[in-house]
Amino acid sequence: MPYYVTTPIYYVNAQPHLGHAYTTIAADVLARHMRQRGEDVFFLTGTDEHGEPVALAAEAAGVTPRELADRNSARFEALMPQIESSNDYFIRTSDPRHVEAVQEIMQRVHDAGYIYKGSYEGLYCPSCADFKTGQEVGPGDTCPVHGIDLIHEKEENWFFKLSAFQEPLEKLFADNPDFVRPPERRNEALSFIRSGLRDISCSRAGLSWGVEVPWDPEQVFYVWFDALLNYVTALRFAREGEDLTDRYWPANVQLVGKDILKFHAVFWPAILMAAGLEVERSLVVHGYLLMDGEKMSKSLGNVLDPFEVIERFGADALRFYLLREVQFGADGSVGTAGFESRYNSELANDYGNLASRTIAMIGRWRDGTVAAVDHDPELVKDFEGIDVQVAELLDRVEPTQALEAIWVRVRRLNRFVEEQAPWQIAKEPERSAELDVVLASLAEGLRSVTVALHSFMPDSTTKVLAKLGTPDTDWQAAAYKPSGDGMQVTPIEPLFPKP
Ligand code: MSP
Repeated sequence: MPYYVTTPIYYVNAQPHLGHAYTTIAADVLARHMRQRGEDVFFLTGTDEHGEPVALAAEAAGVTPRELADRNSARFEALMPQIESSNDYFIRTSDPRHVEAVQEIMQRVHDAGYIYKGSYEGLYCPSCADFKTGQEVGPGDTCPVHGIDLIHEKEENWFFKLSAFQEPLEKLFADNPDFVRPPERRNEALSFIRSGLRDISCSRAGLSWGVEVPWDPEQVFYVWFDALLNYVTALRFAREGEDLTDRYWPANVQLVGKDILKFHAVFWPAILMAAGLEVERSLVVHGYLLMDGEKMSKSLGNVLDPFEVIERFGADALRFYLLREVQFGADGSVGTAGFESRYNSELANDYGNLASRTIAMIGRWRDGTVAAVDHDPELVKDFEGIDVQVAELLDRVEPTQALEAIWVRVRRLNRFVEEQAPWQIAKEPERSAELDVVLASLAEGLRSVTVALHSFMPDSTTKVLAKLGTPDTDWQAAAYKPSGDGMQVTPIEPLFPKP
């Protein structure tokens, strides 16, 4: 089955920070997991390069917008392998093929009668690139997201008839209760729709860094139209000589932070309908990573540099920490102290030690060979359904719960070692068969949790599976097998050494 997952495309007027890494990592876990299940996966991420903030930042730096975009987009692209993102393509909206596709699609929207010339007067946040109305305006006409003063804008430009999609959008939400998740975000989007949709500006005059409006070259498209369309335009050119649109569109899961809910839950489906395209299947909205109680963001200057974290602890640890620490969907605080604590207690102790000692004991007492015996019935029971449970949680895009379901088994294995005390059994030669069962059950448990963890921590799990002599990561392999066929293990270095 095709499975298409996307992240927002990131603004190039900032350096990549942990917030950007977060969404990409979550999407990557889904993509890798679906590949384990044998699905035909396409995973897209990239950079959003047009618009006023980029043009202004370039001017301030004394370079052209394209130079700035090239430089900063490269930083985002370089982040991808470092966080072990397995994206199938990295789109840049300054790519002429994207530009051409936007023009073609918007021309279609225009020809279908959804675009007209008009004028608008209101409050605008340049950092959000958003016209704010009603509850979106903070105290003293400030932006509630960025805390900056909103600008009074008067515009003469092209408008998109968003109001024409009031009913279709209400119907879309009614027919697909899971279209936007979690439910609080769905309700937020729905109440925005029900409060009455006003037409929105879809172009801007006097700005050259953008996609030219084909029927009015004096104007460029408002950056959100250009940006949102990336999810469909990329499919046209991501593969040389092939158009992947029919294969992957509509996207299965589009991941976004809650800051851009309105654009993805309201504007985006309306634009798709206007262009005669299918609407995405689901939008999954996560919360903010907070530092000292505030959203981590470039404009607030409170960002944790993912490159530094990776250098100290490794990408697997970062991936694990972010999805484990912050309940996916809710806001959550992150920081160095919390990071070190989870690293030590859960990665180094719970999982890392489990792997080291399991393999070491099999080496010491069985020369590396796991006996082909029936496994401990109690343990078998506690592992029942691990594969089904984790797959269901990831289908619902609940990575934090999926990790907890796995960690319940990791802790169970550690308890099993303590209860069985194999070092005692090993002292009594007549209990040799018992030792075989304990070690084989442990090795199988370790193998099962490791396959289940593979999409979260691709690097360390690959190492463990190699040392267990069972490199298979296909999802069937996540199930715990009640009897063994004998594995051959080899010594392993500490997985999560103290930094
Ligand atoms: N360019 C637009 C999105 C266009 S999509 C068609 C944009 N870019 S952004 O660089 O500001 O990145 C926004 C996304 O980055 C958020 O939606 C979220 O996914 C992620 N995050 C940025 N800061 C974050 C946090 N502090 N916490 C969690 N996610 C954060 O908006």
